[in-house]
Amino acid sequence: MAAEISARETTARRIPAQRYDVPEEDIDQILGELGALLRTRSFLSMGAHCEIFERRFADYVGCAHAVSVNTGTGALEIILRSLDVAGSEVIVPTNTFAATAFAVLHAGATPVFADCADDLVLDPSDVERRLSATTSAVIVVHIGGLVSPSTHRLDELCRRRGLVLVEDAAHAHGSALDGRRAGTLGEAAAFSFFSTKVMTTGEGGMVTTDSDEIAQRARLLRDQAKVEGLNRHDLVGYNWRLSELQAILGVTQLARLDTFIEERRRVARIYDRAFRDGPACLRPLRIPSGAESNYYKYVIHCDADVESVGRRLFTEHRVRLGGAVYDVPCHQQPVFAGLSRDPLPRSESLCRHHICPPIYPSLTDDEAQYVADSLIEVVS
Ligand SMILES: Cc1ncc(COP(=O)(O)O)c(C=O)c1O
Repeated sequence: MAAEISARETTARRIPAQRYDVPEEDIDQILGELGALLRTRSFLSMGAHCEIFERRFADYVGCAHAVSVNTGTGALEIILRSLDVAGSEVIVPTNTFAATAFAVLHAGATPVFADCADDLVLDPSDVERRLSATTSAVIVVHIGGLVSPSTHRLDELCRRRGLVLVEDAAHAHGSALDGRRAGTLGEAAAFSFFSTKVMTTGEGGMVTTDSDEIAQRARLLRDQAKVEGLNRHDLVGYNWRLSELQAILGVTQLARLDTFIEERRRVARIYDRAFRDGPACLRPLRIPSGAESNYYKYVIHCDADVESVGRRLFTEHRVRLGGAVYDVPCHQQPVFAGLSRDPLPRSESLCRHHICPPIYPSLTDDEAQYVADSLIEVVS
């Protein structure tokens, strides 16, 4: 196999970790709509394009309301502020991007980190252990696009203990559990449209919810908490507005979302086949029945030295790994040193021992096979 790989390697182009996709026809449409918008001289935020984006996103997710905002972090903070969590504790998985915990801090609450289960998603049993008299909410993060079946247990726990379940769905556009899409499994959800995500507006975010009250609060807060759009403020708001230019991109990306996910699943099937019979040190995360992953990440549990695998993949095969989810858990980040440093052993181990090969719509079958063969060669 080595000779075969090195023959292919000479012709292989560098395979980047991430690549967003804007099809040519969409570029023409986007430019046409941008031109038409600019000629109107109308306001360039919170206009007709944002409204269309919100309506279509809500319909796609299957919820009553979608409120567009400028980032996923902003979406999280707005939800938490709408829920009045200030002064309380909010349970956050330690295995997440720091933004999840930053949003809790910015909303005036204290993040309490909890461990994850083997599927890398928040473990309901560990959440239960960390509840206190002041816990108000739990944030579940659909890591790598997996809406874990354990979300049902979290939901049941939150109902039993009178807590609010919030979804950080930054990874999970179009993912589902038992036929329900991410964005409908908690009281409210936050999506991100950062450039690395399954659909992008460059920067951008969305709050989804069935609650009229949260939606109304979110609309108020995102626009400096202006009461009825006027220069009157009863609450502390912020500028969390999405621009019309981004909404134009968002509408076209949303129309492509199912195709993007189908293409990611094609790549995932190639990886599934390639790693089915070993090597033993590479074990792809199994997607449990009932869950439909959008494959934001293809996660492989890896017993080898992950850093050296990544280095050799790049220097010897010109393949960049796709960024782990995540290599350092939040409770070990210096910025959170003031919070509880209780060991969270499963996350500590899983964060150090997984890799994510590149996965995106424009990765060809040949490229995906080349990545898999290269990875197998590096660890063998
Ligand atoms: C799990 C998670 N939460 C929140 C965010 C924040 O989203 P944004 O970058 O749009 O603010 C991200 C972004 O990478 C994320 O991965």
